[in-house]
Amino acid sequence: MSAKRIIVAIDGPAGAGKSTLAKRVAEKLGYIYVNSGAMYRAVALWALRLGVALNDMHRLEQLAREAKIRLSLSDGRIFLNDEDVTEAIRDRAVSDAASKVSAVPGVRRALVKLQRQIAEENSIVMDGRDIGSVVFPGAQVKIFLDADPKERARRRALELRGQGEDADVHVVAGELQKRDDRDRKRTEAPLVQAPDAELVDTTALTPEEVEETVLRIIRAKTSDGKAATGQGG
Ligand code: DC
Repeated sequence: MSAKRIIVAIDGPAGAGKSTLAKRVAEKLGYIYVNSGAMYRAVALWALRLGVALNDMHRLEQLAREAKIRLSLSDGRIFLNDEDVTEAIRDRAVSDAASKVSAVPGVRRALVKLQRQIAEENSIVMDGRDIGSVVFPGAQVKIFLDADPKERARRRALELRGQGEDADVHVVAGELQKRDDRDRKRTEAPLVQAPDAELVDTTALTPEEVEETVLRIIRAKTSDGKAATGQGG
C-alpha cells in the first residue's frame, strides 16, 4: 500500500477546528486520523507528573525518547506507557506545558519519527503545526486552517465547558494567544503556512461547510481521494 498512500496534512493555530475536521475527513475517506498534538501533550503530561522542569531540554528529550506512546488507530485513544491518557491530556495545564515541551528540538525529533512511522503503512489525515512544513513536506494535500482569534477562543471555551470546566472566554483567549505566540515564534518547526498549503478560514463556516470545502480540495488533488500523485514524507 505504501506507493499509494495519501497524506493529508492539516496545520493551524489552536481552536481553528483542525481535529474536528481531520476526524470527519478521515472517516469519509477511510484514512487513519492522527492527532500529532496528542503526542506532545502525552510527553508534557509525563513531564508534569514527574516534576521535570519545562526548560530542562535534556530531560525532556529523554522522556520523549523513552515514552511509549500509542495511538489506537480504530478509536483515536492515546496511551502513554500503557495508560489511557485520552482525557488527562486535555487538561489546560497540559495544553500550556505541551506548547513549551514542543519547542525542544530533541522532543520534536523523537515525535516526528513516530509520526512518520505511522504514515509508512497507512493513508492518513494528520493535524498539528508542522505537518505540511516539516513532517511531510511531500504530502499530496496540505491545508492551513485558520479562524479569527475571538472565534477560536469562543469555540475552545465551549469545548472546555463541555468537559465540565468553568471557562471564561476572555481567559481562554489569553491562554490561546500565549500558546500561539510561542508556537509561531519558536526556532524549531514553528507554526507557519507551508507555501503550497491551501488556506481555509473557518471563522464563518459550520463544521459541515469546512468539511465540504476540504473534501473538495482533497478530491481535486488526489483524483477523488484514491490515486496519489506523489509520496508523502
Ligand atoms: O494541537 P494541540 O493544541 O493539541 O497541540 C498541543 C501543543 O503541541 C501545541 O501548543 C503545539 C504543539 N504541537 C506542535 O508543536 N507540533 C505539532 N505537530 C502538534 C502540536
